[in-house]
Amino acid sequence: MFDPASFVEEKVGELQKEIDGRAIIAVSGGVDSTVAAVLVNRAIGDRLLAVFVDTGLMRKGETEYVDNLLRELGLNYRIVRAEGEFLSALRGVTDPERKRKIIGNTFVEVFERVAEECGAEYLVQGTIAPDWIESGGGLRDTIKSHHNVGGLPERMNLKLVEPLKDLYKDEVRSVARYLGIPVAERQPFPGPGLAVRILGEVTKEKLELIREANSIVEEEIERGAERGLMERPWQYFAVLLPVKSVGVHGDKRAYGYTVAVRAVESVDGMTAAYSKIPHEVLERISVRITNTLPQVTRVVYDLTNKPPATIEWE
Ligand code: XMP
Repeated sequence: MFDPASFVEEKVGELQKEIDGRAIIAVSGGVDSTVAAVLVNRAIGDRLLAVFVDTGLMRKGETEYVDNLLRELGLNYRIVRAEGEFLSALRGVTDPERKRKIIGNTFVEVFERVAEECGAEYLVQGTIAPDWIESGGGLRDTIKSHHNVGGLPERMNLKLVEPLKDLYKDEVRSVARYLGIPVAERQPFPGPGLAVRILGEVTKEKLELIREANSIVEEEIERGAERGLMERPWQYFAVLLPVKSVGVHGDKRAYGYTVAVRAVESVDGMTAAYSKIPHEVLERISVRITNTLPQVTRVVYDLTNKPPATIEWE
């Protein structure tokens, strides 16, 4: 049985010996990077700088959420706003793997500047076991390149520290609970963010649309779970499809966007079953999305398991 208390005690001791200079970590507000940051902060205090890069590809309210979280956890941190840089790098790009590479590279460029400024010698990453397994760590073929395992350390000449690399998600969550980090029950969110939930080119207009639609999906599903209509799924979100379809607005024909709603049950993301969401909740999602976003004329629900589909649409 995994024991979070002895894991933390042992790890903090190891980290104190391992890190004898300044360190930097990119935090996303997700469980993995936050737990890694708190562990290293326990070991070396303010010699660790936590950096949150606002790519502009975040969910609604995410930057404010992370800002509060890092402040409450007492970390030494900085928020870097870089939406313009990411959007111009992504202009005209439609291929999902190219999007991931561009986002990964832009991320490295932004992060590198901060690391140089603060004189870091160590790079902390919140890599966990499934990340490197799914990224072709020798055990599986590469399915999607997960940018958080990308070329950061080699390029930056930093020593890599990965305190969670042997843990699985449920173990990381138990460490988070033990450390009192309020991120333990958050759903996973992909590094490339909303960019892989806009099929085709990423534009500011589409980002605003999917950000709003996604927040409606999250709110209505969470409300449905609170009202006892359903269990909260493992992951649930909206996807903007590259097809337009005909609809009516008043007595006029409209030609609008299609939003797909995706919700799945899973343990570790490797396999998944689509969630059997009650129709009452699905209907509220659909009505709210089309009322709030008149550019959307159709909302569909994804009924596919993984395999054969993946959880994300790109
Ligand atoms: P798929 O779509 O491959 O997703 O079934 C499995 C899990 O991984 C997340 N995911 C990503 N996470 N960078 C990430 O950090 C990525 O590029 C990426 N692609 C997928 C996905 O949200 C799901 O939890």
